[in-house]
Amino acid sequence: MTDVEGLKKDAGIAACSYVSSGMKVGLGTGSTVKHTVIELGRMIAEEGLEIVGVPTSLATEKLALEVGIPLVKLSDIDGLDVVIDGADEYDPQFQLIKGGGAALLREKIVAQESSGMVVVADDRKRVEKLGAFPLPIEITPFAHQATIRVLGRTLNCRVNCRMAGDNPVITDNGNMIADAHCGPTIQDPIGMEKVILNIAGVVQVGLFNNMCDVVVLAGANGVETFVNPNGRLK
Ligand code: A5P
Repeated sequence: MTDVEGLKKDAGIAACSYVSSGMKVGLGTGSTVKHTVIELGRMIAEEGLEIVGVPTSLATEKLALEVGIPLVKLSDIDGLDVVIDGADEYDPQFQLIKGGGAALLREKIVAQESSGMVVVADDRKRVEKLGAFPLPIEITPFAHQATIRVLGRTLNCRVNCRMAGDNPVITDNGNMIADAHCGPTIQDPIGMEKVILNIAGVVQVGLFNNMCDVVVLAGANGVETFVNPNGRLK
């Protein structure tokens, strides 16, 4: 296991301390939170943990079923106690960029239904200003090149259609992903989110503002927990 893989595993497992029996838990997507999902499966099998989960992608749904987490549909329940998910970047105000794994729409729907959001990450994800990681934006397949042109003009930066070989990446929702290369310049993520969501053709943007309560971060000093002073979890 590489160092980074080890850090992801440490953070993913440590975040399980935010889960206890009786909870409804949002299960994020990505290479860090996959360790959370696997650990929750182990806790169910070996420690009698009783939870239900809501996955944020088809990939997480598959993994959760493999490790034995009972799943429910978000539409059938009245909110979630907590969601645990990864991030591509987080800033000192706990604002996030997400969507590197193309799951941002379901991730944001699950996060907005959760009473708390715990982010798991290795210390490469901590930034002073968001935007070095290209900002993922889910867009409709219809006229996607036109939407990408409008995004480029509006944000004044290069915007690419995310590709898998010769074909655009298609999300679990049948949409496409545009990546905006703004650079580490996002001064006002809340304003930027509004501007992007106002463009026809945009389904959702990977700016997660005022959603993250806690970051469980693994780095050279081990696992550290950073609590958002304005958040809902302690
Ligand atoms: C999925 O669309 C993303 O939002 C992920 O949560 C994010 O990219 C973090 O993934 P890793 O833990 O794999 O870096």
